[in-house]
Parts: sequence; C-alpha cells; structure tokens
Amino acid sequence: MSLPALSSPGVSPDELRVAAEELREAPAEVVLAWVERRFGARAAIASSFGAEDMVLIDLARGHAPSVRLFTLDTGRLPPETYELMDVARRRYGLEIETFFPERARVEALESTKGYFSFKQSIEERKECCGIRKVEPLRRALAGREAWVTGLRREQSVTRTAVEAVELDATHGLLKVNPLVRWSARETWAYIKDHGVPYNALHDRGYPSIGCAPCTRAVKPYEDERAGRWWWESAENRECGLHVRR
Ligand code: ADX
Ligand code: SF4
Repeated sequence: MSLPALSSPGVSPDELRVAAEELREAPAEVVLAWVERRFGARAAIASSFGAEDMVLIDLARGHAPSVRLFTLDTGRLPPETYELMDVARRRYGLEIETFFPERARVEALESTKGYFSFKQSIEERKECCGIRKVEPLRRALAGREAWVTGLRREQSVTRTAVEAVELDATHGLLKVNPLVRWSARETWAYIKDHGVPYNALHDRGYPSIGCAPCTRAVKPYEDERAGRWWWESAENRECGLHVRR
C-alpha cells in the first residue's frame, strides 16, 4: 500500500522512524516539547475536553505553547461540555478553533431521517459521525503537519496498538499521542494534583464523553468506553476520527 505524501515541508520517513523510536517511551512533556520544537503552530491539539484533553491543555501551556487547539462541535454535545469549554477558555486564555458540520448535510440528514437515525444501524451511526465529526476533522487538519490527541492504549480494544508518534495515513500527516501509555488513574491523579478543570459529567459516572445522545454513564464494573454507543459491540465503538490503515 502506498502512503499519501506528508504535507509540505513534511517529515521524511527516516525522521518519522527516528522520532517514533526515540519518543516511544518518553514522558508526555518530552513528546509535547518535541511537537513544539518541530512544528509549533503548524501542529494542533484535537480536543473534546475529556479528561485526557484537559491534561494535554494543561501540559501544553508549559511545554507546547505555540501549538494550536481545535474542537469539533458536532451540534449534539452535552451542555456540560460547552460549559467546560468556556471555563477552559478563561482559565488558560485559550483560543479554541471550532469546526462545525456542513449545514446542508445536517439539514438533509435530519430532514430525511429525523434526529436519532444513528440508533437504526451501524451504517447510519457512521453516516452521522461522518457528517458531524469526520468531515469537519478533515477541514480541521487541512494545512497542518501534525495533530495531537488524548488517545490512551488502555481505553479500548480498538486502541491497543496506538503509538506516541505515528503516521496518520488517512489524513497524510503526523499523529502524536503523548498520553498513549497513561492509565485512567494517572490521568485523574494529574487532574487532581494540578487543579485542572474537568467536565462535570465525569463525577456522574461518565468516564468518556462524546455527543449527548450517544454517551451514557457506566456501571462500576464496566470498561471506560462502555457508555459510548452502548448499543453496539466494543470493536465497533470508534466514530472514524481514529481510523488506522
Ligand atoms: S472518539 O473518537 O470516540 O470520540 P474519544 O472521545 O475517546 O474519541 O477521544 C479521543 C481523542 O479524540 C480525544 O482525546 C481528542 O484528541 C479527539 N477527539 C474526540 N472527539 C473530539 C472532538 N469533538 N473534537 C476534537 N477532538 C476530538
Ligand atoms: Fe452522531 Fe452520535 Fe456520532 Fe455524535 S456520536 S456524530 S450524534 S452518531
């Protein structure tokens, strides 16, 4: 399979190999400092303002201050997420670049299929995620050279092979996951130790938060993404932002 070219000035396959190797076991601060040095404002943190993303925002203040930040506002986020976005904006002086779905596509979807079509089948769920998340992500990444996410391996069976630095072949740029080796416990210890603001839903049994109609609280014995698209099986529970080729 041929990989798409990295966007200019890009990263050569050799540089990617070296960086991936050197940063594989590196602390998150070191990974972020590398993104700052290598890409600065040509890189962006993708933030849904979940617990991991709040850690990244807090760490980036000290280690990657030029790196940009964007969010995909699907139009179906819970009010608690919008409230946290404003808290974070004020607390960190954040500039949050917001990407919204294409109006015409949302209008057509809702006009023809109603407001909960994603409950009908996996295909219809992926159609909604495609319109509200995947297409806006494509726009958010256009012209950038690297994006930074809060993915952790421990989160689900679909994420066990994620690396700290990897090529995102789908979008043709570098993907950096500084928290890849962190546990949920470490994430929460950081939040508490550093007084980082977090989504009020986390205290109501929501370890992972996405769109309101597709997220619910989990039981104590359930895994951390069990409340996302809970009507589907675990290996389907990805919305298309993190497709691996
Ligand atoms: S999702 O793909 O199932 O929604 P999850 O909620 O676990 O993913 O988040 C994983 C990472 O994807 C986040 O740390 C963040 O980097 C990115 N992400 C998820 N949702 C969004 C969003 N709405 N806007 C920006 N980035 C997002
Ligand atoms: Fe649509 Fe649910 Fe996907 Fe949000 S998470 S884009 S509401 S299917």
